[in-house]
Amino acid sequence: MKYYDSQAVVLSNEWVNDEYKHMVVFVGSEAATVEPGQFFNLMCPSTDKATPFFRRPMSTYFANSATGQIEFLYKVVGIGTEGLSTLQAQQTFKMLGPLGHGFNLKPTDKHILVLGRGVGLATLAPLAEYAASKNVRVTAILSAKDKERLMSQHRFADAKAAIIEVIDSDRSSAIDHVDALIRDVHHQQPIDAFFTCGSKRIGKLLQQLALELGIRGEVALEQNMACGIGMCHACVIAIKDQAQTQLVSKKVCKDGPVFDIREIVYE
Ligand SMILES: Cc1cc2nc3c(=O)[nH]c(=O)nc-3n(C[C@H](O)[C@H](O)[C@H](O)COP(=O)(O)OP(=O)(O)OC[C@H]3O[C@@H](n4cnc5c(N)ncnc54)[C@H](O)[C@@H]3O)c2cc1C
Ligand code: FES
Repeated sequence: MKYYDSQAVVLSNEWVNDEYKHMVVFVGSEAATVEPGQFFNLMCPSTDKATPFFRRPMSTYFANSATGQIEFLYKVVGIGTEGLSTLQAQQTFKMLGPLGHGFNLKPTDKHILVLGRGVGLATLAPLAEYAASKNVRVTAILSAKDKERLMSQHRFADAKAAIIEVIDSDRSSAIDHVDALIRDVHHQQPIDAFFTCGSKRIGKLLQQLALELGIRGEVALEQNMACGIGMCHACVIAIKDQAQTQLVSKKVCKDGPVFDIREIVYE
């Protein structure tokens, strides 16, 4: 896969709530040709407090090769993302990508279920839109701490997804409730594949359901990274091989970040 070290121009970088920012950048049409689930490694600016040495990985929230624009939805959690949050329109920074392998839809897929939490929704929104463009029905379960932190509903609505919102504050996001919801959706129209990002708890549930119900599943993993291109081994994890009998080492940046959910080792 070809990637570019682009000089991105910031077009906007606004808060969407008290934790997340939405940034739109221009990188040109070649770098903005991105598959759902791929990511960029962003050089984050220094702040008064610190200089982030390594780049930080971010999924593409939206990419348009015609306009050359890319959007990110990111949570401000530490020195790198604090640096990103200071960027103003017209400032520039380097970003490397698109990187990694994205999600896989099969031509036979008729109905998929995407289940994301928090910033995982940023990773799944482009997949929902891509599936809709292929006339695949999408059911989207969106999970968050509370109503205020549920994001991106409009993106899933534009993809004509059947949206189910679950939140911690009324316990609708409890794992047994989500389990029952998924079984009900599958009963109404069989699900061909699950896709998830953003929560180990949800990943573990989907892995169990994938094995029990014989449904294909993929998860986009978040892992600390450095180079983002398979050189430094910072992102190596152990996953199960296809026969599920042995553990093998994989680089999340290069072999992923999207993996078959049955291969993941959840503690
Ligand atoms: C492929 C990929 C796609 C991602 N997409 C998004 C996205 O679309 N939006 C978004 O907000 N975040 C995303 N992340 C997570 C994002 O990379 C981290 O939040 C970011 O690197 C934190 O950097 P920091 O310097 O602000 O925080 P740090 O000071 O480095 O760390 C703050 C906290 O975040 C944790 N952390 C650091 N790096 C990661 C990481 N890579 N994954 C998970 N936790 C981490 C640390 O352990 C620590 O607890 C993605 C991660 C990966 C691997
Ligand atoms: S981040 Fe360097 S090998 Fe994956």
